[in-house]
Amino acid sequence: MTKVAVFVGSLRRESLNRQFALALARLAEPKGLAFSLAKLDDLPMYNEDLWESPPAAVLRMKAEIQAADAVLFVTPEYNRSIPAVIKNALDWGSRPAGQAAWPGKPAGIVGASPGAIGTAAAQSHLRSIATVFGLALVSRPEIYLSAKPGLFDAEHNVTDEGTRKLLDGYLDAFAAWIRKVGS
Ligand SMILES: Cc1cc2nc3c(=O)[nH]c(=O)nc-3n(C[C@H](O)[C@H](O)[C@H](O)COP(=O)(O)O)c2cc1C
Repeated sequence: MTKVAVFVGSLRRESLNRQFALALARLAEPKGLAFSLAKLDDLPMYNEDLWESPPAAVLRMKAEIQAADAVLFVTPEYNRSIPAVIKNALDWGSRPAGQAAWPGKPAGIVGASPGAIGTAAAQSHLRSIATVFGLALVSRPEIYLSAKPGLFDAEHNVTDEGTRKLLDGYLDAFAAWIRKVGS
């Protein structure tokens, strides 16, 4: 199985993006992609001083990135950008200098919101900084999910046929991208 570390940018229990990530995990498994959601709720805010005695949560997260064949960001949109949870994880993973965990990792970006633009602005911001981290981003298809209530059921199935096909297509492209650029 190809290992994908998944970074969900919302910490709340009923997070739409968490539900989205779990639904993607379910669709991905038969394609040979094993999704694993990174634990981000115990990461401290980035502070250079903490490297003197690195927090276990930071070392765990960096190890998860390093062990993964690819990473996937499932981001909400906060005030037309990405939430601090995602930026904080990116920053921790980028240090210490010369020991970044991100460079060369095949990566994808998706996101869901209840609103009409489906995180397009947040994803655009994330794409524009992804190059700084050396992530090898899959460029298409783009997934801007405007999620209506009931789109995901309790077993993490996608209830709408058209959306499921769209996500299947995304996962096929992501898997092909990982095979192409992954080492
Ligand atoms: C601080 C904050 C800012 C938000 N800004 C936006 C926004 O710019 N665009 C948008 O579509 N939704 C915005 N929302 C609404 C989120 O899309 C919505 O709360 C979504 O459910 C959050 O993702 P989650 O369900 O995974 O927690 C914002 C929500 C919060 C809490």
